Amino acid sequence: MKELIVLNKPKSPVSEAYRGIRTNIQFANVDKNIKTILVTSSKQGEGKTTTVSNIAITMADLGKKTVIIDCDLRRPRLHKAFGITNVGGITDILLNSDSYKGYLKKTGIENLEIITAGQIPSNPSEMLSSKSMGKLIEQIRNDYDYIFIDAPPIAVVTDAVILSSMADGAILVCHSGGVEVELAKSAKQALEKSGANIIGVVLNKMNIEKRSSYYAYYYNYYSDEAATDGKKSRLGSSGRTKQMKVASGND
Ligand SMILES: Nc1ncnc2c1ncn2[C@@H]1O[C@H](COP(=O)(O)OP(=O)(O)OP(=O)(O)O)[C@@H](O)[C@H]1O
Ligand SMILES: [Mg+2]
Repeated sequence: MKELIVLNKPKSPVSEAYRGIRTNIQFANVDKNIKTILVTSSKQGEGKTTTVSNIAITMADLGKKTVIIDCDLRRPRLHKAFGITNVGGITDILLNSDSYKGYLKKTGIENLEIITAGQIPSNPSEMLSSKSMGKLIEQIRNDYDYIFIDAPPIAVVTDAVILSSMADGAILVCHSGGVEVELAKSAKQALEKSGANIIGVVLNKMNIEKRSSYYAYYYNYYSDEAATDGKKSRLGSSGRTKQMKVASGND
């Protein structure tokens, strides 16, 4: 559970960065009703599960009724981040046509529940693109303020792109210095092609060498936001896409 940094170190700059992302999501919500948010990345291990878990906790902290769904049906891991069981989850709901309500798992955090992936299916893409999956997300959407979807990486399988069409917004997590710019660009393009509404790009695991520069980064975080508006980033941002930064939390 070391990933849940906003619980373990709520006052750290990293936790503050997650709260900044929460604020961005709320701003993105002013005109549109963005309730279902998909979190994905180009490749494995960039920090999707960590990012989605911490943002969801910050939303729940505000009293928003929040649920995270593990849609990484091939390599589910959300349950591990929260120290809960993966027995009974999305695949079981879909296979048995059950109500999702019997599969909600408590996290011990007020206002935050989880639906884990459940048993690993032989046909994850088919399951995720099924009408039943679309209906399931709609049902949950009616009952919660925010639904966060932990999705698989884009470069490996089409699952995330399929799911993005069922979400109101998508966040692309990029391992800063760990993902090739071209790969990140093609992930962003794949999302855009499917009509996804990319509400932000999280630059994750930024290497902050010294504590003093932590604070420098801290201020940059805010000023950069204004600066990126209307400018093209290396990812080819249209100016609509926010850059949000999270430092390495290993310190
Ligand atoms: N900001 C961060 N600082 C330090 N370590 C981090 C940060 N974000 C994620 N990590 C670490 O990186 C590893 C991968 O993170 P995580 O499991 O969240 O990635 P993922 O994209 O969900 O991976 P997968 O593709 O396997 O599902 C974990 O060990 C996690 O603790
Ligand atoms: Mg993951």
